[in-house]
Formats: sequence, structure tokens, C-alpha cells
Amino acid sequence: MVRPDTTVSPLPQARWWRAGVVQAVSPPGVIDLGPGYLEPALLAVDEVLPLYAEALTMFGPAALSYGANAGAEPLRASLAARHGCTAEEIMVTAGSSQALTLLCTVLGRPGRFVVVERTCYDLGRSIMTDHGLRLREVDADGEGVRPEALDRALSHGDDVAFVYLTPTFHNPTGTVAGEQRRRELLAVAARHGVPIVEDDAYTELCLDRPAPPPSLAALAGRQGVIRLGSFAKTLGPGLRLGWLEAEPGLIDTLAGRGQLVSGGALNHLTSLAVSMLMGDGRYERRLSWLRGQLRLRREALVAALRSGLDESVTVSRPAGGFFVWLTFDPRRSEAALLAAAGRAGVAVAPGSRFGSAVGTHLRLAYSLNPPDRLAEAAARLAAAWRTEETLR
Ligand SMILES: Cc1ncc(COP(=O)(O)O)c(C=O)c1O
Repeated sequence: MVRPDTTVSPLPQARWWRAGVVQAVSPPGVIDLGPGYLEPALLAVDEVLPLYAEALTMFGPAALSYGANAGAEPLRASLAARHGCTAEEIMVTAGSSQALTLLCTVLGRPGRFVVVERTCYDLGRSIMTDHGLRLREVDADGEGVRPEALDRALSHGDDVAFVYLTPTFHNPTGTVAGEQRRRELLAVAARHGVPIVEDDAYTELCLDRPAPPPSLAALAGRQGVIRLGSFAKTLGPGLRLGWLEAEPGLIDTLAGRGQLVSGGALNHLTSLAVSMLMGDGRYERRLSWLRGQLRLRREALVAALRSGLDESVTVSRPAGGFFVWLTFDPRRSEAALLAAAGRAGVAVAPGSRFGSAVGTHLRLAYSLNPPDRLAEAAARLAAAWRTEETLR
């Protein structure tokens, strides 16, 4: 299907985009740069529509049966081919959040620690603390966690269940760890015998060359690393579909948990539907179109912020993912900046939501609005932050 380059048309079903059907809807008039959602017109409605009929035609009753506990073989095989591992090293999950939940139940025990970056995905933190795990924060720099900081955290004598990292297009900072950094982190964790959970939701959304280095899982041959992947950011979170990569022994343990033995793989029919998309180049075409759309949105937001804000504010230009990370003079108050943004009709995410970052930060998503709205939001923010008293 040919679609215009710069924008996408509004959906005829717009009336269904409302509270009670979808998770969160911003009030009328507010430009919402808060959540890491895809704009409605960027969700893969056209691509997904035929897939269920195709899967039911191809697999018949097997598509409506209990699915194989670790996930249906066609999707495991496609994912293995795409990510350079074997199908035995892939397990289908109901998205990254469910994969992390499952890992917490198997690797965690209330009171154990997880080592995390000082600033990292807020809801990943919630999933871990929901399971009674305690978070030990470590310092990061422009490439993510510093190996010496990780080494120190693992030398504390705490009972550490795992290390949780996002080395590629980090949420919220957008940073990418280079290959050398990745190898150093792997070496530290291996020396301490602690597994790494690599949350890799955004890798396919690489917007610039060069591509990021291989995943930690690939570099380690999946020994001691569990990588979480998701279709939420590439097709749509409503599919509730993702996967994890791990060594086959751990996959057997995870797939042997009661919930999976009782109910079979999660989202079995959806997994077969998505396997149809991956088999014949349609997934690749979708990704390349989506990357183009995200590139336009990133450029619109970054350019308008940089031209509107003074040099005391650092505006990141991420090489992939969904988020721009703003760093302010630490004397400016996050609460006052948020309030000024709110009065200007723009919702943004406070940096403090993602942990105990040093300094004053805000996260802005460019995934949920078209380029012209992003430029408008940036202009409103720049005006609001120029005129408001936002010093502590
Ligand atoms: C780093 C990260 N991990 C996981 C998720 C959630 O993934 P899923 O929808 O597959 O549960 C998100 C979504 O915001 C994310 O940013």
C-alpha cells in the first residue's frame, strides 16, 4: 500500500479512541507527549486486519487449540531467524511486561535485589517491586550503566536476583551502549554469576545509521542473558505479544510454570497471525515505513525545541525509539516546569518518575502525535518555560 510520506490520514473509527476502550486518552486540547504510545494512525490496523483470517485458514483448529507452552513453532522459528538464534532459545510471551513478570516469579523471591540504572523504565520498576523485589540503583553515563558502578553494586553482598538493563534506545534517556561497553557489562555480571535481563523493546526502531551493536544476548550467546522483545512498539500494544530469548534450559523452566501448562502459550492465535506477517517481507516493509514516520516526528520535535529553548536546556536527539530527554539547569524545578507545560496545554513526563536521576529532566514522546502537532507543542513549551518562574 502506498501512503503519503509526511502524514497519515485520520482513522474512520476515531470515535472508539476513548476511555473505557483504550488505556489513556488526553483531554481535548492537550497535546500529549507523555506516554510511549504510537499515534493511532501509526498502529498496524491495515497490516493486522487480514492476518487472523490467514492464520485460521492455514492452521485451522490448531490455531484455536491450547498453544505449545513455549509458544507456537512458526513464530518461534521466524523470531529465531530474525535474531540469529535457535527456536529453542525463543519463548513467546504476552509482551515484555508479562515476560518480566514471569521472570520475577522464577528468578526473584521477595526481598531479593534487582540492580537497575538510576534512571530507567518506570513500569518495569513497578513490575519488579510488585513482586517484592528491592531495587539497587547504579550510576549511568551517556552509554548507560558504568561497569565500575555495576561491579560495586554486585560486590555489596546483597542477594541479587538479576540486573535489569536497556542498552539500546533506552527509555527514557534514549542512550545506546557501544559494543565495548556491552562486553564490559557482560564480563562484570558473569564474574559475579548474576543474570542480566535485557529489556529491548525499541531495537527495531533504529532511525539513524550505524545500527546499534548486537544485543547483549547475541554477544553472550544467550548465556546468562535473557532478552525481552515486543511487538507493542512496532505493530501495536493491543496485540499483547512479545518474546524472550534465553538459553533453552531456562525456557523449559519458564514454559513449565503452572499458568502456561494450564492455559498453553499466551495469545496463541495472535502469535500465529503475526507469524504470517513475518514470513514474507510484510513485517520488514511495515518497519521501514514506521521508521520513516518516526524520523519525521523526531526531527519536527527536536528542531522546534532546539530553536525555541535557550542553550541552558539540553535536548537529546535519540538515534532510535520514541523519546527526547530534556536536561535543565538543576536549579529549575521539575514541578514548576510541569505546571507551566500543563498551563500551555502540553503533557510531558517528569524525569523523577524514572528513578532518582540527578538534576532536572523531562521526557517527551514524539510517537503519539503528527509532526505539525509536535512542532506546535514545542513552541508552546518554549514560550511557557521562557515566561514562567521555574527556579526552585
Ligand atoms: C523499556 C520498555 N519495556 C517494556 C515496555 C512494555 O512492553 P509491552 O507492551 O510489550 O509489555 C515498554 C513500553 O513502554 C518499554 O518502554
